[in-house]
Amino acid sequence: MNKEIEKQIEEAALKFKEMLAEQYERNSRIGAGVSAGASGKSSVVIGLAPGDGIGPVIMEETKAVLEELLKEELGSGRVSFKEIEGFTIENRLAKEETVPKDVLAQMEACDVILKGPTTTPNAAMGGVNLESANVFLRKYFDLFANVRPVKVDEEGIDWTFFRENTEGEYALGSRGIRLGDGTGDGLSVDFKVTTAEGSRRIAKAAYDFARANGKKKVSIVTKANIMKKTDGDFQQIALEVAKGYPEIETDTWFVDIMAANLVNKDIRSGFEVFVLPNLYGDIITDEAAQIQGGVGTAGSANIGTDMAMFEAIHGSAPRMVEDGIAHLANPASLITAAVMMLRHIGLGDKADRLESAVSKADAKLGSMMTGLPGGKSCKEFAKEVRSNL
Ligand code: IPM
Ligand code: MG
Repeated sequence: MNKEIEKQIEEAALKFKEMLAEQYERNSRIGAGVSAGASGKSSVVIGLAPGDGIGPVIMEETKAVLEELLKEELGSGRVSFKEIEGFTIENRLAKEETVPKDVLAQMEACDVILKGPTTTPNAAMGGVNLESANVFLRKYFDLFANVRPVKVDEEGIDWTFFRENTEGEYALGSRGIRLGDGTGDGLSVDFKVTTAEGSRRIAKAAYDFARANGKKKVSIVTKANIMKKTDGDFQQIALEVAKGYPEIETDTWFVDIMAANLVNKDIRSGFEVFVLPNLYGDIITDEAAQIQGGVGTAGSANIGTDMAMFEAIHGSAPRMVEDGIAHLANPASLITAAVMMLRHIGLGDKADRLESAVSKADAKLGSMMTGLPGGKSCKEFAKEVRSNL
């Protein structure tokens, strides 16, 4: 081994030591559980953060829908909107900050945030390589429970995914180590982190949800046969949590066969609640959303102890903007996220109304929301939702 590589290994070991200490410290700081929601508050501030790409397009229509639905609440001050300024890829790149401090301050002044998708800067964008804003915000506000429902009524599918949202491959994803001497040889290492507290709280959130909603089964999904420490612990801890919920059936699956199960029409409607580590949750929920009609139909809640952020599960679709078809984006994802937000802030009746309005609009126009020339537009879909309110 040459001197240069030896030096890099020394440096990597030091960096690893630092990261371990930092992650251990985080484990000891982890909060107690999911917030009760902002339902107890007499007035709730909803931050609107449109994001990038198709984000502003779907946000504009979602806001119009909410303005109509929440006319009374907005009038009485029970609910107010706060537009978050400067949460754009241009501003983030210019300031070289994943989420600029003044943007974070605006967000912190809100009770909940409705967020559009953001573009993740890559090395090709002006040489600035920032962490994903989504990932950053989830960690910054410690939004550990990523809750993603998927429903297909005709098939009896009613799934709720509890994706751990702050750990796994995402905890240190931008801080891996590469060794190389410039000859083209080398190797890269990324890190995956599972903490006991982090696993316990997401498992508890899943089982509490199952109990509160009369669900009969929770499925724990990992790759514990290969990732023996991290996924092994996640599964073990989730199984321990399960003991506190004897009325609920628990099963454990590896993520590969679960991916297969979800396309197996004979068995898939038998699943109800899933709890999974971060990256598997990311992948499996895109698959599940596709079964429901596409990622453009799925909303998600990122819930922590003091803050909650609601968003579409898809990205900012820069290609749609480049191709001049951003107006064809499906707003159902963000509107569905708004349904989850309304429930979270204690406006369950309004959430039910909106949910049924989206579902009717989807039955009528869903198949024409292709996102391709000739498809129905974002505006047309939102108009249909409003007329169903
Ligand atoms: C999601 C997205 C994000 C993730 C990306 C945009 C960073 O795919 O919310 O599922 O990987 O979590
Ligand atoms: Mg994803």
